[in-house]
Amino acid sequence: MNTIDRSTDTLRVLAISGSLRADSINSALLRAAGALGGPEVKLELWDGLAAVPPFSEDDEAEPGAGVAGMLAAVAGADALLFATPEYNRSLPGQLKNALDWASRPYGRSVLTGKAVAVIGASPGNFGGRRAHADLTKVLKACGAVVVGDEVCVPQADTALGEDGLPATEELRTALTGLLDALGEAVRAA
Ligand SMILES: Cc1cc2nc3c(=O)[nH]c(=O)nc-3n(C[C@H](O)[C@H](O)[C@H](O)COP(=O)(O)O)c2cc1C
Repeated sequence: MNTIDRSTDTLRVLAISGSLRADSINSALLRAAGALGGPEVKLELWDGLAAVPPFSEDDEAEPGAGVAGMLAAVAGADALLFATPEYNRSLPGQLKNALDWASRPYGRSVLTGKAVAVIGASPGNFGGRRAHADLTKVLKACGAVVVGDEVCVPQADTALGEDGLPATEELRTALTGLLDALGEAVRAA
């Protein structure tokens, strides 16, 4: 009960982008969310996705440093904020692969009970809606508690201004709403 008090404590949010691209609009949206969060939100953009190897049950006993680093980062966060591109109408394989690792051992995953929120983003008109839906489904299967509204950002390549912050009040409200939902879920846990 009440694991954080936002008047005095920090909400540690691990931000996970499903894109490995240097100029990723999904990673940029996560940075924007971090800038909007206020002093009580400490948002860290995770940079370990490329180091997570292909999942194999044969490697579960000794998964290696990439997986260990991911599990430690997730365990050390109060909540997770995902932003995913849409690849062929679903989430990118590298993100699904990382979640397959994080889902183990079955029933005792580091994701079990973890508060998570999801952003979908695409330069197209649908805002990565199908990737958002699939990522939400997978996170629930892993035992995570998905909170907040469905935030899908169409024309995401123009959604942020030169300052890296949302170009519209609508997007600003959507991002702060997800942070608020994560904070409320952590407080209520
Ligand atoms: C393999 C691949 C498949 C894609 N499929 C879709 C798709 O189904 N729907 C969509 O809206 N955009 C699709 N795109 C375009 C991505 O939305 C676009 O590249 C976007 O910028 C990727 O996100 P990022 O900027 O965070 O890397 C695809 C891109 C790639 C590389």
